[in-house]
Amino acid sequence: MKVAVLPGDGIGPEVTREAVKVLEALGLPGLTLFDGDVGGVAYERHGHPLPEETLTIAKACDAVLFGAVGDPDCDKLERSLRPEQAILGLRKELELFANLRPAKVFPGLEHLSPLKPDIARQIDIMIVRELTGDVYFGDKGERVASDGSREGWDMMSYSETEVRRIALVAFRTSRARGDKLRVTSVDKANVLETSQVWRDAVNEAAGPHPDIALSHMYVDNAAMQIITNPGAFGVILTGNLFGDILSDLASAAVGSIGLLPSASMGDRATEFGRFGLYEPIHGSAPDIAGQGKANPMATILSVAMMLRHSFGREDEALRIEAAVEKALADGIRGGDLDGTHGCEEIGAAVRERL
Ligand code: IPM
Ligand code: MG
Repeated sequence: MKVAVLPGDGIGPEVTREAVKVLEALGLPGLTLFDGDVGGVAYERHGHPLPEETLTIAKACDAVLFGAVGDPDCDKLERSLRPEQAILGLRKELELFANLRPAKVFPGLEHLSPLKPDIARQIDIMIVRELTGDVYFGDKGERVASDGSREGWDMMSYSETEVRRIALVAFRTSRARGDKLRVTSVDKANVLETSQVWRDAVNEAAGPHPDIALSHMYVDNAAMQIITNPGAFGVILTGNLFGDILSDLASAAVGSIGLLPSASMGDRATEFGRFGLYEPIHGSAPDIAGQGKANPMATILSVAMMLRHSFGREDEALRIEAAVEKALADGIRGGDLDGTHGCEEIGAAVRERL
């Protein structure tokens, strides 16, 4: 079980450290960890946010545990050298086209949501976001507009092939969740050609799965419904840009970005499961970095997703999830919730409850 640990910038190192300690506390045989630099830290040390060496380590492992990247000091660098290129480069190079982002309210934490508790309680959504296409990876540039002003442009596109493979992940995910097989595909087909091809390809992919209750929704409407009627959603299938926005929206509805993990998967099989990259959905939070205030729970829960998807260790994944849930029920709360427990304290509390 080879895991590449890439802590990155800001609070990345502190939350990753606690998550690694939880992983090690399980005492799984054959676990080997490899460290690599990514993000602003990697730029400082190696002159690039995603050094060749880090990519080689990641490729040689069965899974990647990723902290966070982003450093305001790097905002002036040309785009290809900014910390964010580390995560975008890893997704592209490792062909991690499927991003799973669960947004769920933990029992007893309904009051953290800005929504009414009765509505918040309904939130149990899995966002399946396409991760290697869309306007994120299209050609982009700057030119001079007809009136002589600067004009930025970014090319948005999706091929049927890209859409079909992510749609299948959504259907598979829905089946594994065992809920009502509800999949909502989110697009902007009333305006975008990209979305029309998306919608047609999703319908086509759904053909052999007649038991799946597939519906389509425009992204603006979806943003509204996630807040007003979150219980209507099971799996949300969407593209890279809309998925980025809707997953932050869903995390805000849950009330804490510090609790939400994610998995990014491709097709590559490993000895025990599928290769994947696991990371909290929060960023590097430079404002609180190095103060021991960050909540490591999202990264710890990302380790649970890693055990489930890359190592076929469902029992251990459930153990970690139960320990986090128990810690929360016992009042262990990070600063981003309503509590004051520090990063190390939260890590220790989860380990004690394994
Ligand atoms: C995310 C982040 C990234 C994205 C950034 C850091 C490039 O916001 O994982 O959601 O936009 O995908
Ligand atoms: Mg985002």
